Amino acid sequence: GDLEGPADPFARLGLTYDDVLLLPGETDMSPDQIDTSSRLTREISLRLPLVSAAMDTVTEARMAIAMARQGGIGILHRNLSVEDQALQVDLVKRTQTGRITNPVTIAPEATLEDLDRICGQYRVSGLPVVDERGILMGICTNRDLRFTPVAEWDRTLVSEVMTPMPLVTAPADVSREEATAILRAHKRERLPLVDDAGRLSGLITVKDFVKSEQFPHASKDGDGRLLVGAAIGYFGDSWERATTLVEAGVDVLVADTAHGHVRLLLDMVARLKQDPATRHVQVVGGNVATGAGAQAFVDAGADAVKVGVGPGAICTTRVVTGVGVPQLSAVHEAAQVCGPAGVPVIADGGMKYSGDIPKALVAGAEAVMMGSMLAGCEESPGELIFVNGKQFKSYRGMGSLAAMSSRGKTSFSKDRYFQAEVASDDQLVPEGVEGKVAYRGAASAVVHQMAGGLRQAMFYVGARTVPELRSRGRFVRITQASLQESHPHDIEMTAQAPNYG
Ligand code: XMP
Repeated sequence: GDLEGPADPFARLGLTYDDVLLLPGETDMSPDQIDTSSRLTREISLRLPLVSAAMDTVTEARMAIAMARQGGIGILHRNLSVEDQALQVDLVKRTQTGRITNPVTIAPEATLEDLDRICGQYRVSGLPVVDERGILMGICTNRDLRFTPVAEWDRTLVSEVMTPMPLVTAPADVSREEATAILRAHKRERLPLVDDAGRLSGLITVKDFVKSEQFPHASKDGDGRLLVGAAIGYFGDSWERATTLVEAGVDVLVADTAHGHVRLLLDMVARLKQDPATRHVQVVGGNVATGAGAQAFVDAGADAVKVGVGPGAICTTRVVTGVGVPQLSAVHEAAQVCGPAGVPVIADGGMKYSGDIPKALVAGAEAVMMGSMLAGCEESPGELIFVNGKQFKSYRGMGSLAAMSSRGKTSFSKDRYFQAEVASDDQLVPEGVEGKVAYRGAASAVVHQMAGGLRQAMFYVGARTVPELRSRGRFVRITQASLQESHPHDIEMTAQAPNYG
């Protein structure tokens, strides 16, 4: 139905995940023939249409790396400085699944202390040493540090301990097979790539070769680097933030606000898609919850539209303001507009179980974004919290008082809730809460359960591909009693299931 038009507001009905189930359909395939690939944006397709939310308790580099390795993608939150967010992009782009085209290096005059710090930051065990002309001088690894007491690291130069040239190197266009053969023949772990003048132009490591075999479905760019997205706003230094992120190699910029149907933000999206410096990256607009909102982003040239006003686990927008649209209806409305325009819809927020993923896809989304379902992972920011012997991780809304207030630091997330100009914390009107979710272990295991749920749904519906699921899937509306029937009942659960509870 049309959620925007009718004169009689009482004729409207909004539905969400718990209001429906998918009908089983005839199937003539086995679950292993199923392909879960789907579009994230006009130009980026993912093997798994799962996105981790741009929240400061969900997605920093570690989560983005984990999501991309599993075939999804992470959107780096923006509650940090431009430089720090760009560094996060850099960390993901340097987590190699093939060859490194722009390796982190160190100068011969740097100290071992510098080396140790940079290695820690990028989680690597050694660095190529290059002079100011970019000429490869040697390589310096953990092993070279071993014979210098830590107390002397601040005054020992890299040039004193490095393994100097000549090293085993290869030309930049060396094939994967040749590189493997060279590394094997010389029992090396790193193969610096150099041009005719001896300048370092890349690096291949054994570790990265192993990784690319370990993560066959990883989401990668044309150079074999992991895909990553980052959130931006519309206020203050947002343009600078966007261009800095693009320079750092971000693949997707996500206009991230609680209410995207706003002229300033639409103009920002249009500018990003027109400016020669930024138009090659994919730009997602959001959030909206109506057909008109989706249309505005389609008109602005967005490569995907993100839908969700208030469905999130930590959201209080709907109760604080009285505004919102039940998520499944909102996705459906947006898809009616975006579908014909060829623009994917991303369903953001409100998912509680893996079964909500296929529901979102059938309602019209092509990818889903999740916060609470991923906040409990090892890779989310923040430490483990112990309460009565149980393990938790913190999870908070970006519109919560904690995320918006300065508490001695600058908050960059206030403008998501259009409160950038609110000077003092006690004047803020929060639209989210803070709390904790159960610790769930590695993201790979959590994502595996979600992917498994999606595959099984496709099997039940009789769809080999996500487009088939989206066209064949049919809903049945259910009652509160049916919802009770859907969940375990008349049993006291004695064991924890990895995908329930
Ligand atoms: P889930 O349900 O997956 O939702 O945890 C994640 C999404 O919630 C949005 N978000 C908020 N919405 N107040 C809100 O109204 C908030 O403080 C808040 N923080 C995050 C956001 O779209 C996220 O992806």
